[in-house]
Amino acid sequence: MGIWILNGQTVAADNTVTKKHFYIENDKIAQVVDAVDGSLPDTSGHEVIDAAGKLVAPGFIDMHVHLREPGFEHKENIATGTRSAARGGFTTIACMPNTRPVIDTVDTVNYILDKAATEGVVRVLPYGCITKNELGRELTDFAALKEAGVIGYTDDGVGVQSAQMMKDAMALAASMGMPIIAHCEDNTLVEGAPVTDGAFAKKHGLKGIPNESEAIHVGRDVLLAEATGVHYHVCHVSTEQSVRLIRHAKQFGIKVTAEVCPHHLVLSDEDIPGMDANWKMNPPLRTPRDVEAVIEALEDGTIDIIVTDHAPHSEEEKEKGMHLAPFGILGFETAFPLLYTKFVKTGKWTLGFLINRMTQKPAEVFGLPYGTLAEGSAADLTIVDLDTEREVLKEEIVSRSKNTPFIGWKLQGWPVVTMASGKVVWS
Ligand code: DOR
Ligand code: ZN
Ligand code: ZN
Repeated sequence: MGIWILNGQTVAADNTVTKKHFYIENDKIAQVVDAVDGSLPDTSGHEVIDAAGKLVAPGFIDMHVHLREPGFEHKENIATGTRSAARGGFTTIACMPNTRPVIDTVDTVNYILDKAATEGVVRVLPYGCITKNELGRELTDFAALKEAGVIGYTDDGVGVQSAQMMKDAMALAASMGMPIIAHCEDNTLVEGAPVTDGAFAKKHGLKGIPNESEAIHVGRDVLLAEATGVHYHVCHVSTEQSVRLIRHAKQFGIKVTAEVCPHHLVLSDEDIPGMDANWKMNPPLRTPRDVEAVIEALEDGTIDIIVTDHAPHSEEEKEKGMHLAPFGILGFETAFPLLYTKFVKTGKWTLGFLINRMTQKPAEVFGLPYGTLAEGSAADLTIVDLDTEREVLKEEIVSRSKNTPFIGWKLQGWPVVTMASGKVVWS
């Protein structure tokens, strides 16, 4: 017995809309039938999900998330984090290694993969650290980590401060056909600054995080990527200067790709209502000019994909205030509704464009066989109600943490059914 998903609207990257039926058998999309003439397949003996009037998209892919396990289970764990992902329509997520211990050994990779297989509800792909303990001093065993199943190397949470260390990492990763994923931040430029160097910092007398702290690493690293031939992927691009450098590097044929987060597309530092740490993340909300630049960069292909940087922190931690609270906000559960409401509803983007940057494009960038509704592919599907406006309610958040600036926002485009590997994991 399988599952029929009937009469769903699908939308291609070029925004062509087609009505389709999908037959799911085990963990695969076994059959895709055009529903143009209104005819129905024989569903007898099978489960049926009625998707009439709804969008059926490939399960969303999020290449940058923090699941906090092991070590910070009071913020999130693999069970709660993957459920939060499922509520947001994500079926494949790539988790960052800044856990405790960090993911710098085969044992920790195995721990994550075992937990994900037994307690997770969506596919979890781990990154391994570039340097041991993310301290920037000594490279990890790239070959052993690859063998254990990591999909790339990153010290996300901190920048790799030494150019020589980064160059060695890139050369090694390149020799193994693996990507380097970089959190770009020069520590000497950011110390003690909780928000961007902009209007909000000025108004509240705060030290600001300057745009160069990010862009200096981007500039350094595209040159190192050119020298080593590695696939270099830039995390959470937030500044106009980074955009310029990436655009230039791409024109030059350097193998660089980049990601942007919903909050950097939707919010600037001028939207921060006050000294509330639910608006504190790293990189910080930048100036309106930077927001325009990252939007344009996503639109013109300079930035390839959308990721959430889902970064749960407990209420206690966030209540410590703008100065002392840790950086980071939740991402999974608001990402699609937020972008649908702000960019598709307003006519700035097509639905096909948004879906593409959250499914097919990330799969392409990282060489993953997901992000497609083609026959024979993994049965990862997200059914979305595009019509009902709903408020973001704190009590409905599935993540163990609640740190988001979007509570109270009225949004449209809510995932109503998420299927991962043929199983309904959210409805
Ligand atoms: O906002 C952030 N949160 N930025 C980071 O670089 C790390 C992340 C986290 O782990 O909380
Ligand atoms: Zn980061
Ligand atoms: Zn991150």
